[in-house]
Amino acid sequence: MVDTSSFGSYEPIMPLSSSVQKPQEALLFTLSNPAMTVRLTDLGAAIVGIDVPDRDGAFEDVVLGFDDAASYYPDGQGTYFGATVGPSANRIEGATVSIDGAVYRLPANEGSNNLHTDRVRGLHAQRWQAEVYESADRIRFAYTLGAGVPGSDLELPGERAFTVAYELDGACLRMTFDAQTTAATFINLTNHSYFNLAGQASGSVADQELQLFAERFLPIDDASIPTGELRSVAGTAFDFRTPKAIGRDIEAKDEQIARGSGYDHCFCIDGYEPDDGTGQLPEPRLAARALDPASGRGMELWTSLPGLQLYTGNFIGGVVGKGGHTYENRGGFALEPQFYPATPSHPAFPNAIFTPERPYRAVTEYRFFTA
Ligand code: GLA
Repeated sequence: MVDTSSFGSYEPIMPLSSSVQKPQEALLFTLSNPAMTVRLTDLGAAIVGIDVPDRDGAFEDVVLGFDDAASYYPDGQGTYFGATVGPSANRIEGATVSIDGAVYRLPANEGSNNLHTDRVRGLHAQRWQAEVYESADRIRFAYTLGAGVPGSDLELPGERAFTVAYELDGACLRMTFDAQTTAATFINLTNHSYFNLAGQASGSVADQELQLFAERFLPIDDASIPTGELRSVAGTAFDFRTPKAIGRDIEAKDEQIARGSGYDHCFCIDGYEPDDGTGQLPEPRLAARALDPASGRGMELWTSLPGLQLYTGNFIGGVVGKGGHTYENRGGFALEPQFYPATPSHPAFPNAIFTPERPYRAVTEYRFFTA
């Protein structure tokens, strides 16, 4: 059985239903096996901690986060540490989505654009229903949007039943995301974990190595919206095709690096094939491999999704996290598997409109190793 304890209470600022009681008490769930321990909370179906060993068997927590629910909500500094972000992760240009000729308007919360749906109402800010099982290495969270309660649709159509299942499989943490909808709708979920393979409180990740299985990335305009171009990484600071230190080119004189204040860009993971529309569970592909050469802790990220946003924590400096540690800029790197940002503006991008006949399904795995 999964170990369950209190994660403290928090005050929902804009609950999606008037029947939501205040304050809410969030729970902390601990999944474990001999290879790893994972802590999760129902607030945002989020990853709170992942303990994995180095080459000598010493365990460290390798994801950034906070010690209690009240620090996660509201997400005052906009970190989205560990959270399930949705129904629309990343940016939507003009904060509007057109579906079958109708226009849906999300909050313009970053200039005229939308980022991560809504800071106090998005899926990361909701308390999901936890389903625990007999085994100690598996849990599933569920949350439904737009089930007839006014305001609970987050401005997008359809009653949408979301689930996120977490399971341990040796040194692999597998996440399976599903959404059933009653009407055609836009869905782009991600898990927004930030990694520091030397340990979450160990400072800059500049010396940690990253390899991305991506020949192309999405250049952004000065509002961080992808222009629609899929640009070759060859000869640029975005070339991670062979492993390189995250910090090596992060200060390069490059317009794209300047626009992101470092890396804050989506990479087009090689080999994406659109799903066949039958709702079969898609096969994950190897998207990234990261290694901390000092400790030997490494991780591969496998996902069925087309894009991977690399965000090098360019603005997290000063955030006080777990154990009272103050994170510095570049104190962690987020790898966010997702559909491409600004997909509604670019018909050539992989399609993120889902229907009753084409439910949303995605699989992402963090496979840890030592080297
Ligand atoms: C994504 C965005 C970043 C930032 C983080 C959260 O990675 O692209 O700009 O918003 O989420 O802080």
